[in-house]
Amino acid sequence: MQGLSSMFLAITCLLAFARRAAGIALPDSSGSYKDDAMPGFKENPEDWIYSGQMLSVPRSSIAATSVGHFALFAGGRLQNDLYTDVVDIFNKQTGKWTISHLSSSRSSIGAGSVAGRYALFAGGLDASFRPMSVVDVYDTETSKWSTLNLHTPRSSPKILDLGTVSAIVGGLSGDLQYLSRSVDYVNANLAISNDTLQIDYPQFGVAISDSANGLGLFTSGYQNNRPGERFNDFQPSNQTTVFEATDSAVSHTTDQTFPYPRWGAGGAAVNRVFAIGGGHLFGDGLSEPLTTVVDRVDIYDAGTGEWVSTPLKLSVPRDYPLVQTLGDYIVFVSGTDQSKDFDILDTRSLAFIANTHHKPSLYTLRYDASAVTVDNCLLIVAGGLVYQGRSTTGSVEMFDACIH
Ligand SMILES: *[C@@H]1O[C@H](CO)[C@@H](O)[C@H](O)[C@H]1NC(C)=O
Ligand SMILES: *[C@@H]1O[C@H](CO)[C@@H](O)[C@H](O)[C@H]1NC(C)=O
Repeated sequence: MQGLSSMFLAITCLLAFARRAAGIALPDSSGSYKDDAMPGFKENPEDWIYSGQMLSVPRSSIAATSVGHFALFAGGRLQNDLYTDVVDIFNKQTGKWTISHLSSSRSSIGAGSVAGRYALFAGGLDASFRPMSVVDVYDTETSKWSTLNLHTPRSSPKILDLGTVSAIVGGLSGDLQYLSRSVDYVNANLAISNDTLQIDYPQFGVAISDSANGLGLFTSGYQNNRPGERFNDFQPSNQTTVFEATDSAVSHTTDQTFPYPRWGAGGAAVNRVFAIGGGHLFGDGLSEPLTTVVDRVDIYDAGTGEWVSTPLKLSVPRDYPLVQTLGDYIVFVSGTDQSKDFDILDTRSLAFIANTHHKPSLYTLRYDASAVTVDNCLLIVAGGLVYQGRSTTGSVEMFDACIH
């Protein structure tokens, strides 16, 4: 079960213990602010309070993450197609927005967090479209930035927050291999170590983590069946890597198979329930349509280690949906030009909540937007493209399900 990877992290963690002994204060290793009174959660979505805001600069493709009581919206593409280094930071405790900057303007950044304290903005493409290795790290306790370096430069890596450690997984490498198998681990002391995915083909997957339980899934998306050859052969992927972190080690296994390989699905996890929904399939364009967007939802139960066979469907087909957890719910928004409605999955009953009053719903239909959840009760949707992609927006929609 335990791969080579656990050894590498074990070494990192020994270093971590050495630093701990040297007297560097560690954040709560549970990955959340447990003793800091997490707000309660309003079960009835019709009670969620809506409010609007504006980013400092309208943009799409924002690298967004939440950590502690903060939401961070970093970089992104401007209306003139240039990339920006601007970071809008929302502090949920004060309700205030501030502006900061990444170490460079770049695109295709991986966003995530570690140890309930640090926001991570990993890799990306520079102005000459070269993959980068820089990781910008924001410390929510000191409001200070620092940087780390990935072992392999890449763009669009995915970040799994496993609580005590985060895994920066895969991405695009810019060489003939094209899709990266690289993994970099960042722990609570910001020590970085690396590893490699044990999969047959390099894969650009969906990354979903359940940080409270130290679990992560890298699955679906697409793989390159001809790595290293001149012409890539991209196919939807069933390869699935399950990450598991304890206080002292992280391991990953590959004995799961994604049931319905497809492109463009999105997912989130809470209570060890991983939900992956939407996406699209390519047909031959003759007997079948060239692209079919799907309403399918797949559930992986990390408690039993099984894929749950479910008849669950989204209310509409969604491609690249925004998927976030909110309390015990997993919420699917956007990813469709037909509906502003939310699809809300209750992970306790594995059923969607009836949404007969279209409340909540998005005010503005948008594409290429970003979403985060703060304190697992405040959902924020920001930026993106509006009016059939003709215009870039700075609008922010907040759905507050917190009991204060
Ligand atoms: C770590 O990264 C280096 C540089 O890319 C690579 O040569 C090495 O194989 C990697 N180690 C693991 C365990 O993946
Ligand atoms: C996974 O996909 C590969 C093709 O990439 C296929 O050969 C294999 O049978 C699939 N595995 C399962 C369990 O469906």
